[in-house]
Amino acid sequence: MRLWRSRRITIALALLFLITIIYLYIKPEKPATHTLFEPLELLWWPKVMSWNYDETRTCGFAKCRFTNKRENLQQASGVLFYGSNMNPHDFPLPRMSLHLWALLHEESPRNVPYVPHEEFLQHFNLTSTFSRHSDFPLTIQYLPHAEDLGNFEYYLSFARKQRASFDHTLAPVLFLQSDCDTMTGREDYVLELMKHIRVDSYGACLHNRDLPESLQHDYLNNLYSAPLLRFISSYKFMIAIENGACDDYITEKYWRPLMVGTIPIYFGSPSIRDWEPNNSSAIYISDFANAAALAEHLKQVGDNATAYNTYRQKGKNQKLVVSNKRLQNALFSRRYSIGEHKSIFQQFECFVCQNFAKHNLHSPPKSADKTHYSCPYPPAHAPLQNAKQRPKNADDWRSMMAMGRCQAQLLDQLFRANRNYTQQDYDARLTNMISQGLCD
Ligand SMILES: *[C@@H]1O[C@H](CO)[C@@H](O)[C@H](O)[C@H]1NC(C)=O
Ligand SMILES: *[C@@H]1O[C@H](CO)[C@@H](O)[C@H](O)[C@H]1NC(C)=O
Ligand SMILES: *[C@@H]1O[C@H](CO)[C@@H](O)[C@H](O)[C@H]1NC(C)=O
Ligand SMILES: *[C@@H]1O[C@H](CO)[C@@H](O)[C@H](O)[C@H]1NC(C)=O
Ligand SMILES: *[C@@H]1O[C@H](CO)[C@@H](O)[C@H](O)[C@H]1NC(C)=O
Repeated sequence: MRLWRSRRITIALALLFLITIIYLYIKPEKPATHTLFEPLELLWWPKVMSWNYDETRTCGFAKCRFTNKRENLQQASGVLFYGSNMNPHDFPLPRMSLHLWALLHEESPRNVPYVPHEEFLQHFNLTSTFSRHSDFPLTIQYLPHAEDLGNFEYYLSFARKQRASFDHTLAPVLFLQSDCDTMTGREDYVLELMKHIRVDSYGACLHNRDLPESLQHDYLNNLYSAPLLRFISSYKFMIAIENGACDDYITEKYWRPLMVGTIPIYFGSPSIRDWEPNNSSAIYISDFANAAALAEHLKQVGDNATAYNTYRQKGKNQKLVVSNKRLQNALFSRRYSIGEHKSIFQQFECFVCQNFAKHNLHSPPKSADKTHYSCPYPPAHAPLQNAKQRPKNADDWRSMMAMGRCQAQLLDQLFRANRNYTQQDYDARLTNMISQGLCD
């Protein structure tokens, strides 16, 4: 009897043990991180999103609810900001200690001058910018598909291009730009170049020729249309001067001519050589003292098939060789390009969702720094004939960027104080800083 009872106790204990093990094994994990089943809520902050947005999506292993309902701020895990639509009077303060902030800004800083400053950036946990150092880099977003560089659909032989210029139907250089006031002094530089070599200018800036009828209405919205690419390919060279000179800020201005066998004349990202497909794929304005020296080089290269074609290196099968390992890797690992169907917003949402879901309370805090946005101050511009001369609007741009730094310092103070503030507060404090000469 005793034996039986003790055996029953043993069995009961064993059973209890087993049940405990099973329970421990299958019980829903108590989150150090969030569970896979309870969606994280991420709140878009931009006021311009006036429509109702509320979507729950699965992003790989994670699930998130994306919304723009500001009343959900308390329960949200993170807040999403869009650089081009930020308002310095309107941030979600006080910030709860668990609120992660994520910033998407694919543009140069010209529209939000406080963004590139570390005083501001350090308050964000994740960023997506053009910089390779950002968490979701957009450096090569303007190269639509990896194959585009090897696609010679639009490629014209040197002889074909030469004929067009002998007939005097086309100048050797194409300029197609309608934003005529840039930090880089684009228009000032091209104006000087025009004194030394013929340039066909079709955009609003320095306009001297009309686009073919078929291209006229939509060339700004349709950056890679077949007729436009064909048009570009008929030129030997194309001006590719970015509107801002920040490291890794590269737009279609660089890739588009490369895609069609036209040589870009580039100024912009100081680190551009890190991204060129081969070691002499483009002509770099900063290699020449001024526009006259550049024009000399363009004339030599433009009249010499061998010299011209060394810029258009092609392999045995007539494909452009992308020998740059960094570019190869970036093409392989990138999560977004403008050639994709998914919008940049969706891709960013999922990136943040996965990142925040992975995040656990024991991992070290993470915030952005100035490498996520490295733009020189004062803004760099293309070298003018008279080295002392500066582009016509340089002072305006400089003071705008100086004001940006001031704004970043003010926002830093306000974020640290971690109290909601009004537009009047903000404006008064900024005015005060200006009058103390802190913003020059
Ligand atoms: C901050 O204050 C403004 C009014 O000054 C108000 O509209 C806004 O809702 C407040 N924001 C938060 C996050 O409390
Ligand atoms: C590219 O670089 C390699 C190695 O540095 C060199 O041998 C080659 O001549 C360069 N090609 C051109 C076109 O400059
Ligand atoms: C053409 O360019 C090639 C390569 O740069 C050079 O070797 C050759 O001398 C040039 N020819 C003329 C006629 O200048
Ligand atoms: C540039 O491309 C050529 C082949 O066209 C290749 O031989 C050379 O190594 C490439 N240069 C670099 C720096 O990779
Ligand atoms: C997020 O960034 C803020 C501001 O830099 C920082 O205080 C906080 O520790 C960061 N949080 C995490 C979880 O990395």
